[in-house]
This record gives sequence, C-alpha cells and structure tokens, in this order.
Amino acid sequence: MSENLQGHVALVTGGTRGIGAAISESLAASGATVVAAYAGNTERANQFRDQLTEKFGDHGFEAVQCKVEDPEASHKLVQDVIEKHGRLDIVVNNAGITRDKIAAKLDPADWKAVLDTNLGGAFYVSQAAIPHMVERGSGRIIMISSLNGEIGNIGQANYSASKAGMIGLTKTLAKEVAFSMGKAGKLTDDSLGVTVNCITPGYVLTEMVAAMPDKVLDNLKSVIPVRRLARPEEVARIVTFLAADESSFITGQTWAVNGGQNMA
Ligand SMILES: NC(=O)c1ccc[n+]([C@@H]2O[C@H](COP(=O)([O-])OP(=O)(O)OC[C@H]3O[C@@H](n4cnc5c(N)ncnc54)[C@H](OP(=O)(O)O)[C@@H]3O)[C@@H](O)[C@H]2O)c1
Repeated sequence: MSENLQGHVALVTGGTRGIGAAISESLAASGATVVAAYAGNTERANQFRDQLTEKFGDHGFEAVQCKVEDPEASHKLVQDVIEKHGRLDIVVNNAGITRDKIAAKLDPADWKAVLDTNLGGAFYVSQAAIPHMVERGSGRIIMISSLNGEIGNIGQANYSASKAGMIGLTKTLAKEVAFSMGKAGKLTDDSLGVTVNCITPGYVLTEMVAAMPDKVLDNLKSVIPVRRLARPEEVARIVTFLAADESSFITGQTWAVNGGQNMA
C-alpha cells in the first residue's frame, strides 16, 4: 500500500504473527511506528520486531506483551503508547482465539475465554484509545472480525458470537465517537475525524490453516468462488487503506475480504 502514514503511531493487538504481522508490516511500510501486542510468545514477538526494524529502519517498533482480555492491562497498554509516543493514531483490534466445539458440548470456560478475548479485548483497547483520539480530533479504529461472525459456523458458537459482537461494537463506537466529536465542536468539513470500521475476512492462509491436511483445505476452497484462501496481506491492505487520513468519510462499515464466499 502506498498510503502515507509517516509520523503516525499504530497499535496492533496480536500484531506479531499471522494476519496481525501482515497488518503491522503493511502499516510500517507506509511509514507508521507500530507497537505490536502479543499474548505470550516473546521470542517470536522480538524476532518480528527486529525484522521490522531491519526492513524499515528504526522507527521505534515495539513488541509488548499484553493479554487483551485483561481490562487493566489493555488500558495500560494504550496509556503507555500515548505516553511514550505522545499520540496514538491507529488501533487495530486483531487479537483473537478459537476454542471450537459443538454448542451442546461447549464448556462455559471456553465460551468465556473466546468472548473475553475477541470481543472484550477489542472493547477494552478501544475504550482506552477513544478519549485520546477525540481530544486530538483524529483516529482510526479497525476491528478484525470474521466471515463466520456474519454467517455462523458449526462448532463456533463462541467465536461467531464474539465476531458478530465486533460488528455491533463497531457501529456503536462509530456513532458514539462522531457524537463526541460533534459535541466537542470538532466535526469541521476538513476534520480527519475518528472512524471505526470492521473487516470480516474469510479463510486466511496463516500457519495454522496451512498446516491443515490437503483434503480439508480442498473442501474449504470448494465453497469459495475464487477457489483459494486469502493471503494475510490481502486483509492488511484494507486495514492500511482504512487507516489513512484520506479515509475520514468511511465509518461504521463492515469490509468483507472473503473471495466472494458470502454470496452463496
Ligand atoms: N486465520 C483465519 O483464517 C482468520 C479468518 C477470519 C478472521 N480471523 C481473525 O484474524 C485475527 C488474527 O488471526 P490469525 O489467524 O492471524 O491468528 P494467530 O496467528 O493465531 O494470532 C496470533 C496473534 O494473536 C496474539 N494473541 C493471541 N491471544 C491473545 C491475547 N489474549 N491477547 C493478546 N494477543 C493475543 C498472538 O500472540 P502470541 O504469539 O504471543 O501467541 C499472536 O500475536 C483473529 O482475530 C482471527 O479471529 C482469522
């Protein structure tokens, strides 16, 4: 992407592996300083931070451990970024987990873990970032939801509920931040604004998916009109597009990246 994000600071949860790593890299390639949060794989996270620095130069890239389901830790994560860099322009709520089981057999702990991480984490991080963004009159919040939040999936009651919740959260936060901006007299014609949008990827070729048996992968591809899975970069390019100052008129929207799978 060739968006100009020079001088912008981005926080990407789950930003050190998989789709999140592609997002961090795409934002860094456009000039942003990226803070990537991760759950526990410190070795991998530090490797990724070093790779970014090697590739794009020393722009203060960081990998920070933070379990987003912990409200206090999430709030501190955001406050630390603001204190250190003096600004936070872009938040990408990408951290997400699965604990798949058919609903009748789903353990309450697995229900709670997935809702707390995927939906709770996105809420806590956004909640901490919004007052700062409204005060500055600019900001971009981008949620990584899922196609399965739109169409459901057998064995994913917890996951699809959390991802559907992110779509509702996106729309509510989009309305609330616009209202707050208006109240503060910051909705001028040339305002960069604070926007909140959501992306719903279909199956993406991450390490986990690539390790699936060929037969399972072939079955997955057979229900996708373009007959392949998404590359992580194909999700990242929408994030970088939405993160740009020029995307200020796009808010409260759901962006599908699924090879046409939801047309069936
Ligand atoms: N892959 C797909 O096909 C697909 C499709 C649609 C939507 N999505 C969504 O896209 C997002 C990324 O998926 P992915 O497949 O790239 O995932 P992944 O490879 O499993 O995600 C890894 C990243 O998330 C971090 N993470 C995990 N739990 C966390 C927590 N509680 N707090 C903070 N960070 C946490 C990991 O940190 P560690 O390295 O420390 O574990 C790592 O940085 C998820 O929200 C997922 O639901 C994925």
